[in-house]
This record gives sequence, structure tokens and C-alpha cells, in this order.
Amino acid sequence: MKVLVIMGSPRKGATYRATERIKEVHQSRDTVDFEYLMLNDVDLSHCRGCFICFVKGEEHCPIKDEGQSIEKKMHDADAVIFASPVYGMNVSGLMKVFIDRFSYIFHRPRFFDKKAFLLATTGAVGLKEVLGYLRLVASTWGFDVVAEAGLITPPAGIPQPASQKQDNDRILQKATEKFHQSLMSGKRSSPSLQDVIVFRAQRAAFEEMGSYSPVDYAYWKEHGWFDRGMRFYVQVPVNPLYDAIGTVVEFVLRRRARKVFQEAPKENVGR
Ligand SMILES: Cc1cc2nc3c(=O)[nH]c(=O)nc-3n(C[C@H](O)[C@H](O)[C@H](O)COP(=O)(O)O)c2cc1C
Repeated sequence: MKVLVIMGSPRKGATYRATERIKEVHQSRDTVDFEYLMLNDVDLSHCRGCFICFVKGEEHCPIKDEGQSIEKKMHDADAVIFASPVYGMNVSGLMKVFIDRFSYIFHRPRFFDKKAFLLATTGAVGLKEVLGYLRLVASTWGFDVVAEAGLITPPAGIPQPASQKQDNDRILQKATEKFHQSLMSGKRSSPSLQDVIVFRAQRAAFEEMGSYSPVDYAYWKEHGWFDRGMRFYVQVPVNPLYDAIGTVVEFVLRRRARKVFQEAPKENVGR
């Protein structure tokens, strides 16, 4: 088993200590390799906003850095821990650059056989926002998000009440147990309502966009996701209520998309 830690803190601080704890628990029970991707130490530039990855494919990205090898690291892992401190009520800039650079994966999801653990640390506030954002990112990229932990970890010099430290230990332990069990079982969980809606909304968008977004269209077609029998990217039980809501969402979005894309002049392609 291999776990990749994507570390959004530029230092080995509270976020790193928490991922080390997750590592210790796993390695005390099983042979689990942990690899750190310290975003501060890798060569990963800002996205330039050229849209080439969306329109022509990620292999045409003009930035020549470690982007492709970082994606490969995610493919080579069984699970990924997305770890970020709260910076300005959001993920750190390092984590945001990382997410931006792989934005084509929002359109062409992969990683369906991989588990994700989401970890956020904060001085006081912002855990809900950061965990919610990371959840949307990881699940839209295809990960099975199986565990989350948000810890309040004041910076050095600011006292931390013992009860807060105990809460952190409990939260981290519980999430680590869930992650460990899920990693060992290998079973994919059923999608949440949000996951089902994202699948249905994207299916409506990419099928209706057709030649306006040819790489996305081809990818979705090749994966069989336009087949009406597909209720999610992979064959897992889908809650019938979520499926019914997804059907309505897809219907409404298709109608809207038809209006937008079929009336638009063709010369707008790729803009
Ligand atoms: C640039 C910066 C921005 C921060 N923004 C917030 C914030 O918006 N809300 C908050 O409660 N804490 C904020 N913090 C505190 C960190 O989230 C907190 O100390 C975190 O645990 C640091 O993680 P680290 O030790 O792994 O670097 C900020 C810290 C820094 C350095």
C-alpha cells in the first residue's frame, strides 16, 4: 500500500505533525509506504490561464516543470492525503497552485480506485471552508473521500487549552481509523448527493457542448459516461433518491445548455 501526502504547508509544522501521526498509526499495523510531496520543494509553476489543457489536452501544457510527474505520483499511490493549513480562510497558496495546475481533471476525472484523506489545520477558523473545498476538489477528481480531520493548532507562542489538544487527538485518531479501514478493505463507498449531482451536471454539460469542448467530449464518450444507464463514473450502488435528484438536475441543465451552445456562433470555440 502506498500513501502520497500532498503537503500544502511550506514547513514541517502542525500540518506535518498531523500527517506524521497518521503515518505512525498505519505503519504500526501494516506495511504502508508514505511518500511526501512537499509542495514548497517541487517545481510547480502557476497556471498561465491559456486553456490549452482544457481545449487540446493536458499533454499540450506549455509549462515544462514537474506537473506531469506529480500527476504520475498520484496515479502510483493507493491513497492521497490532501493536507493544508488555513491561509486567509482558504487553502494555502501552495495548495491552490497545485489544484489550479490540475484543473483539467475537474473536466476529465480519474483516480476512481484511490482513497483520499482531507486534513486541515488552523489557528482558529476556516476549517469548514477548507475541508468543504478540498472535498469538492478530491471527489470531482474521482477520489473516494473516506476521511477528514480539521484541527485547531494555534501557532507557537499562543497557548493551547488541554481540552483542545484532546479534541485534536480524538478527531485525528477517529479519521485515521476510518482511513486505515477503508484503505485495507479497498471497497469504494457509495457517492454522496454532491458527487451524484456533479456527475450528472458534467454529463449534461460535456455532452451538450460536444464540439465546443472536444477533448472533454471524447474522454466522456470513451469512458461510456454518456450511456444513460451510467449513474456514476464507476459501478457502485447509488442512493435512488440521489439518482432521482440527479436526473432532474441533468434534465434542467441539458435544456439550458442546449439553448446556450446550440445558439452560439461556432467561432467562439475555445475562447
Ligand atoms: C499566511 C497565514 C495565513 C493564515 N490564515 C489563517 C486564517 O485565515 N484563519 C486562521 O484561523 N488561521 C490562519 N492562519 C494560522 C494557520 O492556519 C495555523 O497556524 C496552521 O496550523 C499552520 O499550519 P503549519 O504549522 O503546518 O504551517 C494563518 C497562518 C499563516 C501563516
